[in-house]
Amino acid sequence: MAKLLEALLELPHVRIKDPDYMLSVFEEIIEGNSEKLQVISDFDQTLTKDHENGERCLTTFGIFHSTPQLPKGYNARSEALYHKYHPFEVHPELTVEQKTPYMEQWYKDSEQLLFGAEVSKEELKGHIYSSKTCFRDGSVEIFNALKKAEVPVLVFSAGVGDVVHHALEKHEMLLDNVRIISNFLNWNDQGTLEGFQGDMIHVFNKNQRALAAHEEYFSLLAHRPNVILLGDNEGDAAMGHGVQDPKAMIKIGFLFHHPEQRLEKFMDMFDIVLIDDQTMDVPKKILHHILGAHHFD
Ligand code: C5P
Ligand code: MG
Repeated sequence: MAKLLEALLELPHVRIKDPDYMLSVFEEIIEGNSEKLQVISDFDQTLTKDHENGERCLTTFGIFHSTPQLPKGYNARSEALYHKYHPFEVHPELTVEQKTPYMEQWYKDSEQLLFGAEVSKEELKGHIYSSKTCFRDGSVEIFNALKKAEVPVLVFSAGVGDVVHHALEKHEMLLDNVRIISNFLNWNDQGTLEGFQGDMIHVFNKNQRALAAHEEYFSLLAHRPNVILLGDNEGDAAMGHGVQDPKAMIKIGFLFHHPEQRLEKFMDMFDIVLIDDQTMDVPKKILHHILGAHHFD
């Protein structure tokens, strides 16, 4: 494991907060083997890329909003919301407390936009299947390996749950060890959309409060105190808050927007930070070591 850490530290885009501490965490996870492990991952820009060939990859909201059956002008309005609020999400100077009201307003506006929209579940599924879903190279492989090792995976997304579901399904990643916590669409009996089900999960409330409704999931996994967590913004670092009596946790953060200014904050919140890395190479190397090569055949 020390060799792997050394090799990772040599990569110019990899930052490790405390290599000695990381080594002890790795050793503890390896000792606990796959039986004591669980994985928690964000979806947008974590399992998927932020950009590909110079173009922005659509988020689950972006995919949903481009559904052709939605009313005319809908996509343009949601794009306008994205350009208004996304800069606050990745703002290099504002604190999470300062950013949160903007995120709450973004999610309220987004939900408002979809009230009364007439799009069926089948139409949406068809649209997701024909859309570009932009998974990172290695995401499918990691999911297959985690299934082989019977390690539970929680996909915790502040995106659109239905899109997360069908995107995973499309790539045969929705295996029976995978569970999704997200914002699922709420259809009424007439097939019209009425916002989202339950409380909205936005990018900065992925914490104890949002996880309180899912206590049962974590209590079923109480015998798995070791965690690999993957995310791409400050709020994602809190996704492990629901884990019961966590023992060894490795938090891996993908950093893309304003990397120089945000690096320090990311280093505070994550153990390993990957700067503009659009692959799953580093998490794959780590899991390869923990689960064993045979799970990746
Ligand atoms: O899966 P994840 O939690 O990353 O999904 C949330 C992402 O969706 C955020 O990073 C945000 O940029 C994006 N978003 C969006 N349109 C909205 C609300 C959020 O693209 N209306
Ligand atoms: Mg994300």
